[in-house]
Amino acid sequence: MLSKFLFCILLFFFLTISSVKSKIGFDCKSISKCQSLAGYVSPNATTLSEIATLFKVTDINYFLGANSLPIGTSLTKSVAAMETIRIPFACSCKNGSGIADDTTMYKVQAGDSLDHIARNIFSMLVTYQDIAEANGYIIHLHTDVAGQFLSIPIPCSCDNVDGIQVVHYAHVVSPNQTLEMIGKEFGVSGKTLLTLNHLGDARSLQYESVLDVPLRGWLLLVVHFIDSI
Ligand SMILES: *[C@@H]1O[C@H](CO)[C@@H](O)[C@H](O)[C@H]1NC(C)=O
Ligand SMILES: *[C@@H]1O[C@H](CO)[C@@H](O)[C@H](O)[C@H]1NC(C)=O
Ligand SMILES: *[C@@H]1O[C@H](CO)[C@@H](O)[C@H](O)[C@H]1NC(C)=O
Repeated sequence: MLSKFLFCILLFFFLTISSVKSKIGFDCKSISKCQSLAGYVSPNATTLSEIATLFKVTDINYFLGANSLPIGTSLTKSVAAMETIRIPFACSCKNGSGIADDTTMYKVQAGDSLDHIARNIFSMLVTYQDIAEANGYIIHLHTDVAGQFLSIPIPCSCDNVDGIQVVHYAHVVSPNQTLEMIGKEFGVSGKTLLTLNHLGDARSLQYESVLDVPLRGWLLLVVHFIDSI
């Protein structure tokens, strides 16, 4: 009885806290669908094939191209722990913000918790709160939900930036990474990153937060991809 009561209190706090938290997804006020990219830092040594399966990647050539790998590269190619792999996915924009289309579903395994799924499987591309919110606030995952599918709301956008068509890349901020370093890595100005991500100043950048990085050079690749479907 007491534990049920405590659970209700916790649930109340959880819902209160998450309603204060900003919405899931990046700003997305233009068109409703596009292709987007996410930088997945693989927590474990694995293969391209395992990652393609996790994210339900359908166009393998586009997946390889996004990672600057030649077409025909074997999916058995190994991926080192902490290596970043770019994941192409379909972005869906609703009510002003963009998240991955429902194609990015995850099948719950026995023993999974939302935090484990967010942290150890999806490497903080989403937080456990985001997963809870996108799936109607499932607070605890018990073994009896194993086998069920959860939406993984990876943030994305289809908006132009500074009047230019871009591909929005979801980047998880790594330890000690500064806005300047991220800007240099992707060829984007710090000012654009600040504005797009509603950051007051460069110091408000938080470790493990997901940053919206607009990529320009990826456009041709994406246009080619959209032409081919
Ligand atoms: C749309 O966004 C507004 C403002 O963020 C929010 O109040 C409203 O509940 C949202 N509607 C839906 C259907 O998500
Ligand atoms: C990585 O390894 C840890 C520890 O074995 C495991 O819990 C986690 O699910 C693995 N992540 C992926 C994506 O395989
Ligand atoms: C981050 O910076 C702190 C302080 O300069 C240092 O102790 C720590 O090792 C750094 N972490 C990484 C992962 O580089």
